[in-house]
Amino acid sequence: MNSYTFPILRLLADGQFHSGEALAARLGVTRATVWNALQDAEKMGVTLFSVRGRGYRLPYPLHLLDEAQVAQGLKDYRARFALQLFDQLDSTNAHLMNEAANGAAHGTCVAATWQTAGRGRRGRAWQAGLGAGLTFSLLWRFQCGAGALSGLSLAVGLALVRALAELGVTGVALKWPNDLLFEGRKLAGILIELQGDMDGPSAAVIGIGLNLHLPAAVREAIDQPVVDLQELLGSKLNASEVLAAVLRHLADVLQVFETRGFEALQQEWMDAHAYQGQPVRLLMPDGRMIHGVAAGVAGDGALLLTDAQGTRRYAAGEISMRSAA
Ligand code: BTN
Repeated sequence: MNSYTFPILRLLADGQFHSGEALAARLGVTRATVWNALQDAEKMGVTLFSVRGRGYRLPYPLHLLDEAQVAQGLKDYRARFALQLFDQLDSTNAHLMNEAANGAAHGTCVAATWQTAGRGRRGRAWQAGLGAGLTFSLLWRFQCGAGALSGLSLAVGLALVRALAELGVTGVALKWPNDLLFEGRKLAGILIELQGDMDGPSAAVIGIGLNLHLPAAVREAIDQPVVDLQELLGSKLNASEVLAAVLRHLADVLQVFETRGFEALQQEWMDAHAYQGQPVRLLMPDGRMIHGVAAGVAGDGALLLTDAQGTRRYAAGEISMRSAA
C-alpha cells in the first residue's frame, strides 16, 4: 500500500476539488506520487472524479474518525477507553483478539478506516467501503467465565440502540440475537469473540460494524436490504461523535451486564425487538428451518420460540432469524 494514499484521502475527505499540484505541495511530494497514491485508493474501491484544470474530488465527503473529537465526545468516560485508530487492518476483531492474548488493556478500542478482511457472523465477510462504515472492536475483560456471557451480544445491541437514540435516530430495532434494523433494513452488525476459561476470567472482543454512508457498489455487494446513517441523519452525521456515543453507552450497559446480568436489560431488549410476538423462521446451523412466534428472550439471552408444541429456548450461536410475516 502506498504510504501517501491515506494522507491524500484525508485531504480529499471534504468532498471538494483539490488540484494534484496542491495535494503534492501539502505533502511535499511530486504529482506523480499523488497520482500513484490515488490509483491505490481506486483499488480499495474509492471512486474519484478527476477533472482537467480542477483536480480530484470524491463523490461525497468521507466519514473519517478524528481522535481528538472522539476523545471530546467521550466526556467523563474518556479515561475508561484506550483508543487506537488505524488506516488499514485486516479485521479490527482479528487484530484485537491477538492484542488481547498479549495482554492488551481492558477498554482498548481499535478502529480502522479500511478493513481488508472484515469478519461477520456465521463465517461471512463484513463489507464496508473505505470510510463508509464505522468498523471497530472493543476489548472488555470480565471476572466471570466465558460461559456466563451468553447475553452479552444482546446487551451490546441495546447500547447501540441507546446511542443512536441519543444522536436523534429513533425507530431502530433489534433482530435477535444482535442485528440493528431500521424499517427492516440492516444498519449495524455485532460480532463478539471470546477468550479465556469457562470459569473465568474471560475477555470479549466486541466488534461493531455500523453503516455510515455506503457507496452503491458496496450496497450491491451486500445480499440483504441495508440502510446507513447518512440516510437517517443527513448532514448531522459525524463519525467521531457516533463512535463516542456508542462507547459511552457501551460502558453503561456493560456495567449493568456485569453487575446484574442480562436479566436487568431483558425487558428493554424485548421492547426494542423487531419481531416481538411475530411469526419468525430460524435458520439452524445444519440448514434446518424452524417456524414459530418470537415470544421474547430469556434472562441469559436465549430466544423463546412458541409453536403448537409449546415454548422452546434457542441459544444464539450460529442461528439466524428471519421474519415469517
Ligand atoms: C454481522 O455479521 O452482522 C456482524 C458484523 C460485525 C462487523 C464488525 S466490523 C468491526 C469488527 N471487525 C470485524 O472483522 N468484524 C467486526
